[in-house]
Amino acid sequence: MISKVLSVLEVNQRRQILYLLLGTICLATLEMGSVAILGPVIQSIYGNSSKFFEIDLISKIGIPQGNIFVALLFLCIFVIAKNLLAYFFQRKFSKTIFQLKANLSQRLFKKYLSQNYQFYLQSNSADLINNISNVTSIFAQHSVMGIVNLIADSLIVVLILGYLFYIQPLGMLVASIFFGVILFFVNAKAKRALDGVGFKRKEYETAGLKNLQQTFSAIREVKVSGSEDFFLSKYALSNYKNADVETVIQIHQSLPKLWFECVGLMTLVILLMTTIYLGSSHEELIILLAIFGAAAFRLIPAVSRILGSVQLVRSSQYAVQILFDQMVAHETENEYISVAQKKIIFSDLCINNLCFKYPSSQELTITNFSVKVKRGEVLGLVAPSGSGKSTLITLIMGLLNPTSGKILVNDLNITSCLKDWQGIIGYVPQNIYLSDETILENILFSKSTDVLNQQALEYALKISKVDHLIKDLPEGLNTRLGDFGTRFSGGQKQRIAIARALYRQPQLMILDEATTGLDAQVESDIFSTLVEIKYEVTMIVISHNQAVLNHCDRVVYL
Ligand SMILES: Nc1ncnc2c1ncn2[C@@H]1O[C@H](COP(=O)(O)OP(=O)(O)OP(=O)(O)O)[C@@H](O)[C@H]1O
Ligand SMILES: [Mg+2]
Repeated sequence: MISKVLSVLEVNQRRQILYLLLGTICLATLEMGSVAILGPVIQSIYGNSSKFFEIDLISKIGIPQGNIFVALLFLCIFVIAKNLLAYFFQRKFSKTIFQLKANLSQRLFKKYLSQNYQFYLQSNSADLINNISNVTSIFAQHSVMGIVNLIADSLIVVLILGYLFYIQPLGMLVASIFFGVILFFVNAKAKRALDGVGFKRKEYETAGLKNLQQTFSAIREVKVSGSEDFFLSKYALSNYKNADVETVIQIHQSLPKLWFECVGLMTLVILLMTTIYLGSSHEELIILLAIFGAAAFRLIPAVSRILGSVQLVRSSQYAVQILFDQMVAHETENEYISVAQKKIIFSDLCINNLCFKYPSSQELTITNFSVKVKRGEVLGLVAPSGSGKSTLITLIMGLLNPTSGKILVNDLNITSCLKDWQGIIGYVPQNIYLSDETILENILFSKSTDVLNQQALEYALKISKVDHLIKDLPEGLNTRLGDFGTRFSGGQKQRIAIARALYRQPQLMILDEATTGLDAQVESDIFSTLVEIKYEVTMIVISHNQAVLNHCDRVVYL
């Protein structure tokens, strides 16, 4: 598991984790020191007559014998300095972990974005969102933080135990055997209980998220069909199952603390009994009690944290596996290039004997389709529903690869100049996506508002007739659209989508049933203006509407 965690991390992240580990080693040593210092301090109160500290530690660290005040002051300064250091370390620790989480989310999002379109057809968006937001959290906060804490606490325990063994070997041996046996059984039980819970948690989380997404994106149908209860109970299923899984994980994180407070106390009693049995003096017993008490004060929480961390790391194994699979094992060379390299001057688009079959389907969706579109032409595309028009558009845009046949732009295969080709296309899809932002931001879409091309914007607003639409809105272009564009009508959304495509100043406009929501007058107006600019913009129009097809120079049947 550790090797998988390391391979997910980048080189500088591994280095940072190493620094954290070194920091924890320092802190663990100081932690041990704060227990060890107690002996000499108490001894200095009693005078230097105990057999425990034969090395002259007292005079070495400069505590005058019998001076209680100086001894206690020294102890206070040491503990305050240690805790101050621990505070700074904790800050650095938290920062590193949360930065790691942010970086992993960012890398995974980038990874998903650089996949080809096929990948999205096969994936579920709720699953991808869950991986980007939750799984990376679990990886950073449970796996990485868990492992570092585990090492840190183990070091504290080993060092403190080492010191205790040094001053009281036999008693410690008896106590360790007692403690070890109980630890073994508790751990074995937790291991059985936590087996596979992580994967279950992820499964229920994704199912819940998917259900919520579906409900809100189809809220009108949900309300009208009165299916609120259906979606609520569907959500309840995964939600409460997830609650059960979370409970198991939580219990096994807090249980060790309760166990080990009891067992730790019993161990301390056994240790003292052994010491009394070995015939130690009253003074030695007091010093031992103070040291063991202080040791237990640190050991018990450390041991319970170790067990908590073990459960945390165990229950987060699925996150390591998922990130390893998605970021390392299936490493693809895909690197997206977001900007076009050079401008294509569109002259013609030639589709030759195109065949296409979806991997998941048995039959060809498109069979031997050929067409040639010249610059300035308006091509209408007609076919019955489900016959592959949208699929053809997706192929033309280079998002899917033909099963056979060729798509050439200016006699060049589109795959050889994909980004440049996509850069000159303005696409208005059948299902329009509008975000919960202003009309302006929706038109600019992926472009920043800082570099607004005013001329292109006015041109887009005019042709799409969005200028008419915003005239009646008090906030104009700055009107917000609402989630999924709920505050606008279907036709209004289509006009905004047309403006979005036009703002990119495309040389080829593809309209996939993009005006079905408009009234005949507005639709006709839009097409008349579009057709006027047809010497700058070539068009492929999918429509069932004869009035629209009348604007086309040529109509082909798929
Ligand atoms: N991701 C996919 N995997 C498998 N089959 C698909 C996928 N997407 C679409 N199809 C199938 O391909 C066929 C063509 O779909 P397409 O969306 O291209 O039709 P269309 O002509 O645009 O229909 P409409 O006029 O209703 O929009 C349909 O039978 C559809 O079921
Ligand atoms: Mg379609």
